Amino acid sequence: MPNKTGFSKDFLWGGAVAAHQLEGGWQEGGKGVSIADVMTAGSNGVPREITDGVLPEKNYPNHFGIDFYHHYKEDVKLFAKMGFKCFRTSIAWTRIFPNGDEDQPNEAGLKFYDDLFDECHKYGIEPVITLSHFEMPYHLIEKYGGFTNRKLIDFYMNFAETCFKRYKNKVKYWMTFNEINNQTSYNREFSVATNSGILFKNIKDEDHEDAMYQAAHYELVASAKAVKLGHEINPDFKIGCMINMTPLYPVNADPKNIMFTERLMQRRYYFADVHANGVYPKNIEAYLQRKGFRKDITDEDREILKQGTVDYIGLSYYNSMTVTSDGFDIDGDFDADNAATENKFLKTSEWDWPIDPVGLRYSLNWLTDRYHLPLFIVENGLGARDKVEADGSIHDPYRVDYLKAHITEMKKAVELDGVDLMGYTPWGCIDLISAGTGEMKKRYGFIYVDQDDYGHGSKKRSKKDSFEWYKQVIASNGEKL
Ligand code: BG6
Repeated sequence: MPNKTGFSKDFLWGGAVAAHQLEGGWQEGGKGVSIADVMTAGSNGVPREITDGVLPEKNYPNHFGIDFYHHYKEDVKLFAKMGFKCFRTSIAWTRIFPNGDEDQPNEAGLKFYDDLFDECHKYGIEPVITLSHFEMPYHLIEKYGGFTNRKLIDFYMNFAETCFKRYKNKVKYWMTFNEINNQTSYNREFSVATNSGILFKNIKDEDHEDAMYQAAHYELVASAKAVKLGHEINPDFKIGCMINMTPLYPVNADPKNIMFTERLMQRRYYFADVHANGVYPKNIEAYLQRKGFRKDITDEDREILKQGTVDYIGLSYYNSMTVTSDGFDIDGDFDADNAATENKFLKTSEWDWPIDPVGLRYSLNWLTDRYHLPLFIVENGLGARDKVEADGSIHDPYRVDYLKAHITEMKKAVELDGVDLMGYTPWGCIDLISAGTGEMKKRYGFIYVDQDDYGHGSKKRSKKDSFEWYKQVIASNGEKL
């Protein structure tokens, strides 16, 4: 009997986080320094600074996270109370290989994740694991130039193989690289540094785009190798890619805008084409040839890409983006970051992110039509300021409104459009450090954490109103919104 709501009985309701944004304990258990450990705090419109190593006078929010490293038992218990079926987090590469180029892994780091996964299973919560989520060892960047160096494929594979073997009976759902396509913004250091370990001090301004395409290629090869190996280690593994899904809308029906938008979509989503189809799409191949980018690609690489296609598409969805071709030559060189323009139909969040639930349904349809694979929404949510009342309660109807509207569209995609959706894990199910700004006050959680942008506070956890709301959503399998 199909479920009344259209969501399967084993639909993976849960929540998502990433190691570097919540664990803290940045020097505990033998952990090494990651790229996230050298990023200072910024704010809306003020980018995070990437410093030359860790400097004593700076504020590095990822050093403290929300101290999940010591609070994970209490936090997992709260997830269980909400009825989570799954919990998405990442494995900090630097806990397993502190510098990234060691031969042997760090046992204390491996043990931490053993304990965390055991704790999840105690409550019937399935871990969903991203291997690389914006936390590459800093040493690999300093010594090798990050993923601009082919050697990184081997270092990544050591990490992937170690994790697959160690957790082969504890983790079934994997993703290789988080939001691999953020680096399409190749002139934004945060994007290329977190995806690929590219630092602008190491390359010339005119080489940003070239470096990005080469590094992305090595990551795509590493991902395909990992998928292939993972399936050999445990044929039951489900291994996906993870892309940032921000559908682009043309600002109007001028054909120039339509073509421009299509071009941007090609640049943004070719990563998923390679992950899912095992080949570069023709348009990107033509562009790379024309520009002389991604010079190092071998026949063996092309073969591996074909052999390591993913089982599902993991995606984050927060918003759509509306673009105008004004000022751009569609066939010329362009950095599309300046193409975004206002969409008068959409309101925005306090951090200026458009709010567009229908865009989620559109995205799920678009991805299904293109890849014919199961989809997994592994991030979605509203970053907002919360107020703690005198009695300790936290009323967050804005968060409930946002999530309700998105789940409603997600249901339509499943029930009316036939989308094969595996699960839904809203972002930052417990408040954590913002990746983009490094702030604590940009909160996504159902669980409030008493801490400010500087790490001050009791770190006490408390339930927001949205906690009980999400609990009933899960209990009713998406029926009661
Ligand atoms: C995604 C990332 O880009 O969006 C997360 O995978 C991130 O790491 C999330 O935290 C929300 O962005 P932000 O900048 O509000 O933290």
